[in-house]
Amino acid sequence: MSATISPRSALVTGGSSGVGFALAQQLTAAGYHVLICGRDPDRLANAATLIAGLQTVCANLADPADVDRLASIAAAMPGLDLVINNAAVQFDRQWMAANADELVSDLSEELAANLAAPLRLTARLLPALAAAPCATFVNITSALGVVPKSSAPVYCAAKAGLIAATISLRHQLARDAPTVRVVDAMLPLVDTAMTAGRGRGKISPAAAAAAVLAGLQKRRVRRIRVGLVRVLLGIHRLSPALAGRLVSD
Ligand SMILES: NC(=O)c1ccc[n+]([C@@H]2O[C@H](COP(=O)([O-])OP(=O)(O)OC[C@H]3O[C@@H](n4cnc5c(N)ncnc54)[C@H](OP(=O)(O)O)[C@@H]3O)[C@@H](O)[C@H]2O)c1
Repeated sequence: MSATISPRSALVTGGSSGVGFALAQQLTAAGYHVLICGRDPDRLANAATLIAGLQTVCANLADPADVDRLASIAAAMPGLDLVINNAAVQFDRQWMAANADELVSDLSEELAANLAAPLRLTARLLPALAAAPCATFVNITSALGVVPKSSAPVYCAAKAGLIAATISLRHQLARDAPTVRVVDAMLPLVDTAMTAGRGRGKISPAAAAAAVLAGLQKRRVRRIRVGLVRVLLGIHRLSPALAGRLVSD
């Protein structure tokens, strides 16, 4: 008698570079069929040459129609049981020096991609994940959602919103869909395009991805705190002002 191994699929948004790419690599190595998305078709094509079997979709998550299209494709994947809301953008802006129209355009894009898209994707994919024997939504967040820095108010606000929504949804689904986990994975500074030219003590995208996936191995995991995040949150509990000074730029 031959045993049948059920296929397992995962969606990683923004998997064409940085942490998302490392997540896609490691999930594929673990036997997942992985779907990624991004805006740049060349980066997606490059990722597909580096990861065997990788499925890619060109989509801009700041556009709700693209989010819905991505969700339809993901929902059709056999054995979809993991969605990692990873894609995000960060615009550093000095508000007094910036043009108001640019600020308004940036903040619309940043809130759409970083906050509205993960929630919209969750809404669209919840039925598929609730139908799986056990499934997980992971929202990639940042300590900046708890200890904001001065140069990126909208990014910090979007991450704070995502942290709050993750907790709220976790409570709701614990009651209404107990087989679906909603996990907040909070990263420290990671050496990616997003942090190019700034910050010290960055960890590699591979290390960040490995820590997230290791955290998911724990059945009852609700939050994953990678590297120095735990230290910063500890300082913040004792002295929010000191934590603020440590991240301020
Ligand atoms: N790097 C850090 O230090 C750090 C720290 C804490 C948390 N995080 C979080 O970790 C996650 C990954 O960040 P990263 O550092 O790996 O960033 P990254 O290297 O800049 O990669 C971002 C990925 O998201 C995609 N993306 C960005 N905007 C998108 C959009 N509107 N629609 C679709 N795809 C989009 C990018 O592809 P395209 O540009 O081709 O669209 C790329 O694949 C983010 O949620 C970030 O907030 C990062």
